[in-house]
Amino acid sequence: MGSIDIRTAVPGPRSRALLARRQAAVSSSPFMTTPLFVDRAAGATLTDVDGNTFLDFAGGIGTVNVGHARPEVVAAIREQAGRAIHTCFNVAMYEPYVALAEKLNAIVPTAGPRKSALFNTGAEAVENAVKIARRVTGRPGVLTFEHGFAGRTYMALTLTSKVAPYKQGFGPFMPEVHRLPYPYLYRSGFSDEAAYVDHLLDGVRDFFRTHVDPASIACLWIELVTGEGGFLVAPPRYVQGLRTLCAEHGILFIADEIQTGFCRTGTLFATEQYGIEPDLITVAKSIAGGLPLSAVVGRADLLDGVHVGGLGGTYCGNPVACAAALAAIEVYEHERIADHAAGLGRRLRARLEAWQARFPSIGEVRGLGAMLAIEFVADRASRRPSKEAFATVAARCLERGVILLGAGTYGNVMRFLFPLVITEAQLDEGLDVIESVLTGLGN
Ligand SMILES: Cc1ncc(COP(=O)(O)O)c(C=O)c1O
Repeated sequence: MGSIDIRTAVPGPRSRALLARRQAAVSSSPFMTTPLFVDRAAGATLTDVDGNTFLDFAGGIGTVNVGHARPEVVAAIREQAGRAIHTCFNVAMYEPYVALAEKLNAIVPTAGPRKSALFNTGAEAVENAVKIARRVTGRPGVLTFEHGFAGRTYMALTLTSKVAPYKQGFGPFMPEVHRLPYPYLYRSGFSDEAAYVDHLLDGVRDFFRTHVDPASIACLWIELVTGEGGFLVAPPRYVQGLRTLCAEHGILFIADEIQTGFCRTGTLFATEQYGIEPDLITVAKSIAGGLPLSAVVGRADLLDGVHVGGLGGTYCGNPVACAAALAAIEVYEHERIADHAAGLGRRLRARLEAWQARFPSIGEVRGLGAMLAIEFVADRASRRPSKEAFATVAARCLERGVILLGAGTYGNVMRFLFPLVITEAQLDEGLDVIESVLTGLGN
């Protein structure tokens, strides 16, 4: 017997009733990937209030790599909540914050020695990484990339590239932010990756001649694999070239591992596959098994380079979230989730590539480890993005018990962010549903 169990129309009557209440009471702005209201979730499944059980290929947008309601995480949350839910680290300190910093310092692949500062959300980690870089270097400039997504606060939003829906009507944005091209081989016009990388790196050097003085740049912020940007993978040689340019010009290198982190790409952090050492790394999402927590981790001299009181916030490094993170990281390490993710990635890629050979609407399969995606096109020759194709497939899959998530600047990318504890049988079950939908649509 499989994991999927659909008993009503989707959404069912209880979800529909709650949706009506939501529409009356809640701002219409937060987007809805599905119209489902959840009753409970465990491992890689999610059960809605109508008793329908879905395979969750969205994983809370990559926050539950350790699985929904992972028992060790739940136990750690209960235990810590029974002791102290919140005291504010600035008022009365607690061991889990320190223990988590020690752990992160030990596992994050930046240049050492390392220190950490904890925050609540991914956007907040990015904001603070930039604050640290500006404060320490005394420079104003920040480099970001096309197709990037860093969150919804003002600096994070400025670093973000996708205009609709994120930036529309929210300007003015932060000054001194400069945008470089992100490698997107499929839409670049290049067929040879090496030539494309040379072209891009020449472009960065030109950028420093024609656009901005590199001596005014504090930091470069980059996702090694874009999250919201549709799982574009930066070629290692491009990243290494950027790292070298940063070192030459005294620009701090910030790797955003918020979506790539905690085993998604087949290693604990994607950086490990790039042969570089960033100065700072931002982490969030799957760090705490689903509780809000984020961190900036990296060179101790940078983390100590900000005056007392310059970083922080009331809830930063909440003790319950820290306890959850310590338990989640223990699971990642003890159960070798990165290796499992690498295996899942190989299995998934083989299946996606077989689809690509069969279905002309699939223009590209790409990604790193288990962080894989497919890009839908109207036709292979023009490569015109087809947001509609993805939307139709996702809607039909939902009716049949698989929750899918879109991505990409053109909204035409299906990305896979299932909890990494998903079994091979569950993965196959979900993929069978998607395949039968693709077949039925004659895609
Ligand atoms: C790479 C990356 N950075 C930053 C963020 C922002 O994180 P949050 O939504 O927790 O603010 C996200 C969220 O999707 C992300 O994928």
